[in-house]
Amino acid sequence: MIIRDAVEADLPAIIEIYNAAIASRIATAQLEPVTIEERRDWLSEHSPEHYPFWVAETEGRVIGWLSFKRFLPRAAYRGTAEIAIYVDEKFRRRGVARRLLEEAIARAPLLGITALVGLIFRHNEPSLNLFQRFGFQRWGLLPRIARLDDVERDLVVMGQNLGVHSSDGPISAPFSAGQAHNADTSDWRGYNDCLRLMHTLMEYRHEPIHSELLKIRDKYSMLHLDALILIYHFAKICSGHILEVGAFVGGATIAAAFGVRDSRQQKRLVAIEPGGGVKHKRLSTRNILRDLERNLAKQRISEMVTIVKGRSFQPATISAVNQAFGSDEIGLLILDADAAKRRDIECYGKKLAEGCWMVIDDYYGPRSNTKITPSRDDVDALVAAGWLEPLGFYGWSTWVGRWRGAAAEVTC
Ligand SMILES: C[S@@+](CC[C@H](N)C(=O)[O-])C[C@H]1O[C@@H](n2cnc3c(N)ncnc32)[C@H](O)[C@@H]1O
Repeated sequence: MIIRDAVEADLPAIIEIYNAAIASRIATAQLEPVTIEERRDWLSEHSPEHYPFWVAETEGRVIGWLSFKRFLPRAAYRGTAEIAIYVDEKFRRRGVARRLLEEAIARAPLLGITALVGLIFRHNEPSLNLFQRFGFQRWGLLPRIARLDDVERDLVVMGQNLGVHSSDGPISAPFSAGQAHNADTSDWRGYNDCLRLMHTLMEYRHEPIHSELLKIRDKYSMLHLDALILIYHFAKICSGHILEVGAFVGGATIAAAFGVRDSRQQKRLVAIEPGGGVKHKRLSTRNILRDLERNLAKQRISEMVTIVKGRSFQPATISAVNQAFGSDEIGLLILDADAAKRRDIECYGKKLAEGCWMVIDDYYGPRSNTKITPSRDDVDALVAAGWLEPLGFYGWSTWVGRWRGAAAEVTC
């Protein structure tokens, strides 16, 4: 299943799904079916850069949709979006709504959205449960506010603050959908996503987590602080679990665990590390695994992290990771072991959720350096093949992006 911006040609399917929901009297206060004519402007009222309208598509068929709209028209609500999700009856209970909601939470900060709100009837228990599972809380109850077929119904306001404060909404788009622009829309969307990610990073500089992670970096990490902050951010917003390859003594592991903690969601964090000793000007250790365990304990996050002792590509390691995640998908992959990034992606590619956030270290480096072989060739080849979507380069040599393997129909 892929999630993409809706286009005009999707409108009949969108309306068919909506009309089926109207008839059920559970999901919407709309009482009469709508027509394509009435809703001709529905999609153009949304903008992919701030309040998008997405469809979930499988095998060329639209099976669900999600819309963002401004919660209330006043300027102060600019960062708050109301979301609505509808799924084709024939595709219910297959995780479509879950995937759409996960994507909404993950992308909202990039859209300049700082709070999400869902207005859900109190008798719509499946939707209330779904929102609750993804960190939404009951912010309010509007009793007997709707009358559906002579039955008075209560409306629950489900809300979630997404953490980073955006005082000025989304970054102004270098291109907007209405502008004459020859390139495919994905070009400017990708460009805007890169800018928004930089913006998000700047905003974290004013948050307490910045100094918290600065201490972690100094004590336990070889990564640049910016890379740790992004790992924290992705762990917080990602949908799915987290896999780290090459934990060393826990710098990035701790950043990810803090992100999970602050997401208030149940996400599993698995860190692969074979152990050994390392000589380093700041972080020398004779026993990596002992220090990793000790550092996680010091930060009181031992219980959040499953350490898999071994090398990423060994069958026992792969099977331990698969066991830890079960049938669930990975929403953040951190690769910081050695240069063989493609090897690690091939080992775990099947478990990556579409849009999984990817943090890949050692992208740059002098090719003559015998200690650090850059992973640039591997990463560039995966980008060229359409498996990876690049979103930027941070710190000393960390590549950041998203997994697009499902869209590229990867079968690794
Ligand atoms: C550069 S360090 C990781 C630094 C860490 N991310 C941090 O925040 O400081 C690389 C680590 O990867 C581990 N490693 C090397 N090859 C590995 C493999 N195939 N699978 C898992 N870990 C590996 C090494 O033992 C080492 O601890």
